[in-house]
Amino acid sequence: MVVLGIDIGGTGIKGAPVDIDTGKLIAERFRIPTPQPALPNAVADVIEQIASHFKHKGPTGVTFPAIVKKGVIYSASNVDASWIQVDAAKLFQHHLGGPVTVVNDADAAGIAEMRFGSGHGEQGVVIMLTFGTGIGSAIFHNGNLLPNSELGHIQLRGKDAELRCSERIREQKDMSFKKWAKIVSEYLETLEKLFSPELFIIGGGISKKADKFLPYLTAKTDVLIQPAKMLNDAGIIGAAYLTNILS
Ligand code: BGC
Repeated sequence: MVVLGIDIGGTGIKGAPVDIDTGKLIAERFRIPTPQPALPNAVADVIEQIASHFKHKGPTGVTFPAIVKKGVIYSASNVDASWIQVDAAKLFQHHLGGPVTVVNDADAAGIAEMRFGSGHGEQGVVIMLTFGTGIGSAIFHNGNLLPNSELGHIQLRGKDAELRCSERIREQKDMSFKKWAKIVSEYLETLEKLFSPELFIIGGGISKKADKFLPYLTAKTDVLIQPAKMLNDAGIIGAAYLTNILS
């Protein structure tokens, strides 16, 4: 079955049709820069443009970088505050015509990695972290998702972790990968204490540079640390896949 997956990010909104049985994109992804300010109607227009680029009419899965419950947005750390309480599923559905499922971006990426990527078949606790504009998280136990975990906002040296070590902060502060990995390792250590995971999957914008930072990441326990396999396509794939589960 083919579903359109759309990933709303801080800098770009990307989409592609996905075969949800194999988790493969069936066409090259199409990207439009995120409108600034990223107000609800402006973002919905972009979503519509992406769907019409693929002449797509069927079900669509969309990721959103905030807390999402039953299609409604409940937080706005890296998006315009006017999104809070917006029924994004309803808004996008109005623009697209077909059924729309909206989920947190890291939850979508995590689901894709658990189903088709680095987490496939993993039992126990797995934590997927996405490093991009913010830090997203998805927690799984025996393959089941605990949604909206928001671990990017736990405190690290007295500040939101994502203000210490997201990819955006690394770039802004021109941090070397070695220096960045040191802070991330401290972050992983905090999460290890809280959740005793078997595996961390590191994804998001940073994942294509895994060879640069992975050797420097350390953990206190014998937890495994692996890069995301689907790189930056994980959100698109997971959003598409989830339409079948959540609708
Ligand atoms: C948001 C999360 C989101 C993450 C990655 C955080 O600021 O609170 O909901 O998953 O950024 O985009």
